[in-house]
Amino acid sequence: MMINPGSTHLAAIKAALFAACLLPAFLLWRGFELDTLGANPIEAITRGTGDWTLRFLLITLAVTPLRKLTGWHWVVRLRRMLGLFAFAYGTAHLLTYLWLDQFFDWYAIARDILKRPFITVGFAALVLMAPLAATSSNAAIRRLGGRRWQALHRAIYPIAVLGCVHFWWLVKKDITEPLIYTAITAALLGIRAWWREQERRKQLAGGYLPQPPRLTGKVIRIFAK
Ligand code: HEM
Repeated sequence: MMINPGSTHLAAIKAALFAACLLPAFLLWRGFELDTLGANPIEAITRGTGDWTLRFLLITLAVTPLRKLTGWHWVVRLRRMLGLFAFAYGTAHLLTYLWLDQFFDWYAIARDILKRPFITVGFAALVLMAPLAATSSNAAIRRLGGRRWQALHRAIYPIAVLGCVHFWWLVKKDITEPLIYTAITAALLGIRAWWREQERRKQLAGGYLPQPPRLTGKVIRIFAK
């Protein structure tokens, strides 16, 4: 089924999505205020924000497959917001840890990042997300050029993998949740690999062979010697 909302509808969809993306943060904040987050509210907030960071990453990664499978090209226009929410929840997750978990004790934090592998991996994932958030504007896309921008934003693949590794590493007994997130990540990355392979085969069948890089400037001079 082909759905193509006009600009008014798209603006309404974006506004509704924005409100929906804020809902988990609102519920965590309200739970904290009303003291309904259980015996350890700090842990509940750290876990809640961590869960939503990973969920928004995976929802962002699901946009392209959704577009290809349904033909709904407009969903791509929601991707930036979803990615930025992943980063916002990731930042809230880090702040909860720095403030409510470690009380801004920088020595303890540095030791934790270096000594506890799951913290190291989570930290690496968030550090890698920062340049993607910083280059999400149209101006940044123009400045970098489409190809370079795309290459940079492919970092979302290892980031999602690091998010899963972080989760696996921190669970103690029940692996159900990290297993579910890892399976979804594998499916979202696997479908891309499969599409790329199909594309390559199509190009080979059509007699197209990737061209070797052209020898220019300095390289030509070296060969000419
Ligand atoms: C600066 C970076 C990060 C730090 C310091 C950090 C730290 C933590 C801590 C302390 C916990 C709670 C562990 C526990 O209660 O036993 C946690 C849980 C979690 N974090 Fe992170 N994290 C970071 C980045 C990330 C990122 C980037 C993601 C997602 C891509 C993420 C996803 C999660 C998930 C899914 C959980 C488990 C939630 C649950 O138990 O349901 N974290 N993290």
